[in-house]
Amino acid sequence: APSVIPVIAIDGPSASGKGTVAQRVAHVLGYHYLDSGAIYRIAALAALQRGINWQDETALVHMVHDLDIRFSQGEIYLNGAIITEAIRTEEISRGASEVAVHPALRRALLSLQQGFRQLPGLVADGRDMATVVFPDAQTKIFLTASAEIRAERRYKQLMEKGIHANLAEILQDLQARDARDSQRSAAPLLQSANARLLETSQLSIDQAVQAILEYSRSDNQFL
Ligand code: DC
Repeated sequence: APSVIPVIAIDGPSASGKGTVAQRVAHVLGYHYLDSGAIYRIAALAALQRGINWQDETALVHMVHDLDIRFSQGEIYLNGAIITEAIRTEEISRGASEVAVHPALRRALLSLQQGFRQLPGLVADGRDMATVVFPDAQTKIFLTASAEIRAERRYKQLMEKGIHANLAEILQDLQARDARDSQRSAAPLLQSANARLLETSQLSIDQAVQAILEYSRSDNQFL
């Protein structure tokens, strides 16, 4: 039965380092990886390309049925075109957070996400992996860091890419997205009651990866 396929659900706020950590955990275990944030980003990008307003829930839901989304060898494809970089801009970050408030859109994207649950297992990264998409996940992690630390990490990333950035603006954007993601009524960002809290402000990526691997080992003892 599909329900026995193990899932490690990793939820947390923007720029918490979830993506990097989740991908490494998946790599170590040989599991599949779901970047659910990328799916909301694709919805925002596709809407922008088609002139659909991020507020227009009905049009967004219709649009989703025409989207052919594929993840392959580190690239993300939308209807055959590579959009890996195009979905990482600040504009699309904001758009993803805006389209993600619509309950009907979230429902329309549910089975696409659940389809990633395949043997030998899945590491799922997002906001509502443990609460909504994979409520029966074996291991649930709420990965976070202070807004200041997250803003600094994002700032350094941009600098390394040679992109001009303003630390105060990044912090402001992050806090606006945190507020929208946490305060929406549909599947808000929150720590599931049975999720383990991993505060990474003082941890390296490797330390966070090791902590999750240990949690997953100890959770598996009880299967
Ligand atoms: O993880 P990310 O920053 O790529 O996600 C982009 C936006 O998508 C985020 O601001 C909120 C939304 N999102 C969501 O609502 N549910 C998820 N499971 C993942 C992302």
